[in-house]
Amino acid sequence: MTAIDLRPGAEATGSAVAAALRTIDANIAEFGDRYPGDTTAHGRYGLRPAGGGLPEGANQGWTTSFWPGMLWLAYELTGDETYLRAATAHVRGFTDRVEGGIDVETHDLGFLYTLSCVLPWRTSADRTARGAALAAADRLLTRVLEPAGIIQAWGDMSDPRQRGRTIIDSLMNTPLLFWASETSGEPRYAEVARRHIAQLRDHILRPDDTTFHTFYWDPRTGEPLRGETEQGHSDESCWARGQAWGIYGFALNHRHTGDASLLDASRRCADYFLAHLPADGVCYWDLEFTDGSGEPRDSSAAAIAASGLIELADALPDGGERYRAAAARILGSLIERYSTAGHPGSNALILHGVYDKPKNVGVDEGNLWGDYFYLEALTRFARPDWPHHW
Ligand code: GLY
Repeated sequence: MTAIDLRPGAEATGSAVAAALRTIDANIAEFGDRYPGDTTAHGRYGLRPAGGGLPEGANQGWTTSFWPGMLWLAYELTGDETYLRAATAHVRGFTDRVEGGIDVETHDLGFLYTLSCVLPWRTSADRTARGAALAAADRLLTRVLEPAGIIQAWGDMSDPRQRGRTIIDSLMNTPLLFWASETSGEPRYAEVARRHIAQLRDHILRPDDTTFHTFYWDPRTGEPLRGETEQGHSDESCWARGQAWGIYGFALNHRHTGDASLLDASRRCADYFLAHLPADGVCYWDLEFTDGSGEPRDSSAAAIAASGLIELADALPDGGERYRAAAARILGSLIERYSTAGHPGSNALILHGVYDKPKNVGVDEGNLWGDYFYLEALTRFARPDWPHHW
């Protein structure tokens, strides 16, 4: 793997940031306060397709907040208020979404409302944004299943296929609950988050340091039942993006709780992930695959891992140099081999991600979360005093 100089002010950092900002500028003109699709098609985002009674470009699905999330990063990198205005323009749409109950039957309310509404509250004391983010946290509490104490991931709470099921990605949704407790003074949000995270630590993380993508609990007794994949290669394999969510998510929840077992869980996920990388440091879509497999990469998993490894390194008493260096190698490879700097036809930041290989959705394309976490990782290098989002 190449090691390029990613220190603040280094040429590689500056030119990667400048290339990303040029793409974001063009996307502000193209999308404004509407939303691109989850993934590119042939390297380009179009408007989010119409569906569920909503028009093209509407705020639905789990990925829309990554677009304002990128605008926040652009503002934090430059101080340019054009980005601040573009980012805060999304508060109205996210408020309408939660107030109208539009596509909110999901645990992804954490991804959605942390980036779209908690950030404007923190930055500009926007009370509308605070109200919307608290309403989203309240919605998340309606997904808790007792006696397991888990937050059901997907679908209607009475859907037999989804009942009692949670997924590794949910670790990124619990920061909304910690924020809700902090801002409201009500401990009940954080208590739900703590129980949910402990269940994931004990059951979704396997003894060999790999992770299940999803896990079922008996909704009546609370008994842990079984792991099952949804987007990975098999129930037993280790889906690369899930492992990356584990690195980042466990470290984030350690940040909010100080619970050392969560830092250890993040480290275990990281050690396995790093031991299963191919030569260029950008993982294949399932860690079962490596060079010569002919399978596609998932650049989005690499971007999540790069930012998560810095989160982990920052929390370690010894400074976590090994994880910081691994993050730099992965990010350097994304910049050199996967970014769109040399692809003027693309409006993504990085290419060669995978959304859902088993269903053949967004395979070998750019995607919104890959772009967001690529820019977030880059921002962590370019601006070590970056105001944390999660
Ligand atoms: N959170 C859904 C995914 O990673 O695809």
